[in-house]
Amino acid sequence: MLELGLKILLSYLLGSLMGSMIMGRLVGGVDIRTMGSGNAGGTNALRTQGWMFALGVVAIDVGKGMIATGVIPGLNLPFAAEDPEISRLWLMIACATASVVGHVWPVWHGFRGGKGAATLMGTLAVLAPWLLFPIILIWAWVLVLFGYVGLATMVASVSAPLAVALMRLPHDQPLFIYCAVLSLYIIFSHRSNIQRMRAGTEHRNDRLMLFKK
Ligand code: G3P
Repeated sequence: MLELGLKILLSYLLGSLMGSMIMGRLVGGVDIRTMGSGNAGGTNALRTQGWMFALGVVAIDVGKGMIATGVIPGLNLPFAAEDPEISRLWLMIACATASVVGHVWPVWHGFRGGKGAATLMGTLAVLAPWLLFPIILIWAWVLVLFGYVGLATMVASVSAPLAVALMRLPHDQPLFIYCAVLSLYIIFSHRSNIQRMRAGTEHRNDRLMLFKK
């Protein structure tokens, strides 16, 4: 149990390192949580700071999800004995979840984080890279149809457990549970986008839309 607890804690602390805050410090004290949509993520970084800054944000946020899922579970911690009860896949899933939670509620940044989508993508890139193909396709399709990044992200994350169920691949049960729980978490973290869409104030990317009214 000690091993599990330490690895979950490490993953949470890593997830709490926000790409937008690191990039903001590098360019001299920018906090994108006070601009645009107020979200500390890649979309708001692009909206308010441009593509170079946004690229850095996405690379850090995806990268920490990949490290939490692919590296931390395999660490040999000096104080922790191997726990034979925990399968490697469940350990990876626990660390992946902790990194996304860290991104949304980061201990280093007053528990005011982002929405977790890029970090979730990083975890899936390690857990189930084949899932990225349908997810990115659905994300892009919803974006060009409706012009809302938040909506595209929510629909794409809900499509993840459905894709796991439909594709019937090895280890599909733990993966299905992970994707189902995390997709609900992503919808919860996008509640401000849902409110803005209902109020008609959500930022819409008209330029990306295929069919404009
Ligand atoms: O993952 C964040 C994105 O889905 C929405 O970002 O800035 O439009 O709230 P934003």
